[in-house]
Amino acid sequence: MRDVAIIGVAQTKFGELWDSSFRDLVTEAGLGAIQDAQIEGNDLEAMFVGNMSAGLFVQQEHIASLITDNSGLNPVPCTRVEAACASGGLALRSGIMAVASGYHDIVISAGVEKMTDVVDSTGAIATASDQEWEAQQGVTFPSLYAMMARRHMYEYGTTREQLAMVSVINHSNAKHNLNAQYPFDISVEKVLNSSKVADPLRLLDCSPVSDGAAAVILCPAEDAKKYTDTPIYVKASAQSSGTIRLHDRKSLTTIDSSVNASREAFKMANMTPKDIDAVEVHDCFSINGLLAIEDIGFVEKGRGGPAIEEGMTRIDGDIPVNPSGGLKARGHPLGATGIAQAAEIVWQLRGEAGKRQIDGAEVGMTHNIGGTGGTAAVHIFSR
Ligand code: COA
Repeated sequence: MRDVAIIGVAQTKFGELWDSSFRDLVTEAGLGAIQDAQIEGNDLEAMFVGNMSAGLFVQQEHIASLITDNSGLNPVPCTRVEAACASGGLALRSGIMAVASGYHDIVISAGVEKMTDVVDSTGAIATASDQEWEAQQGVTFPSLYAMMARRHMYEYGTTREQLAMVSVINHSNAKHNLNAQYPFDISVEKVLNSSKVADPLRLLDCSPVSDGAAAVILCPAEDAKKYTDTPIYVKASAQSSGTIRLHDRKSLTTIDSSVNASREAFKMANMTPKDIDAVEVHDCFSINGLLAIEDIGFVEKGRGGPAIEEGMTRIDGDIPVNPSGGLKARGHPLGATGIAQAAEIVWQLRGEAGKRQIDGAEVGMTHNIGGTGGTAAVHIFSR
């Protein structure tokens, strides 16, 4: 297997983007990444695109063809990758494997979702749970994560305020991110007074419904310096599957796929959680920001709440989490998220993150979950 490097990244603005169509978004991100890598479109040998459901959100299937055709990339082979909210993470992993195996040299991995054009985004998102056992019984994603939150509060004494802090920290990072959907500060009080969505989760515990796209360009590590002075090297790419249904789990407070993918990634990179300088975790709801730091191994199970309260995950804390603003405040266009996380880590490791820069970041990690953890993709990168 060959080592792989990232030589270009880009992300569109995330938000409710009336002026950009699905195809505009992915083209903008792709062109941005090509420009960042200082290559030409015809240097690309393959494309992988993460997308949860253009069918449900914009009534468009066969998006791989749509994308290459509209961006002038024909006949480059393009493959859509789907694993709900982990689609982007898996598109990244597919690109890495294509380069590592020697099958292709220069590959683009992108992610895109345009969610705000439908009236019932909650129903569309719920198709990522088990239809028969969950969605058809009226369960929604906020309610699934609410059950996990309630159980964590019961088992470990996690407080409502500690959950709110996850959102507060994300927003305080997002205010320095021009691409973020919600680039402004909020307070614990504001979270606790926002409208109830699924008890105990409130509006400001939730990631929003978002439009957006992101892209990265990959090449063999040995060639990377031909394109850039600051290649970012892929040290690990791990993926794990877990139960799609919550009721099949031994515990509601551990996401096994997160634990397994993180363990595998650390083994592959020959690293431990102590080696990570910056991490982008999948905080689709505040509870998942907390579970992630436990499941990855930054803190012991049950210690997530106190660690967040003590400031461990702040941008100047022991393990800065979600410098981009995370899913909560940067936004969460489902298929784009895993790629946007990688783009943020690349900017951090290159020292290009501006006012949200983590001093001296050398090693970064991304953690991308599908559904309530039916899929997890974890990547580790270094300068
Ligand atoms: N965080 C902060 N503000 C939000 C927000 C969020 N998550 N969602 C909406 N808002 C704001 C809107 O900008 C709007 O503000 P305005 O009145 O100043 O324009 C206001 O709240 C109302 O927006 P609206 O779109 O009517 O909210 P909604 O009630 O339809 O949707 C949620 C709110 C929480 C239900 C929706 O954001 C949601 O479903 N989030 C979860 C998405 C999800 O499940 N993703 C997959 C995870 S696995």
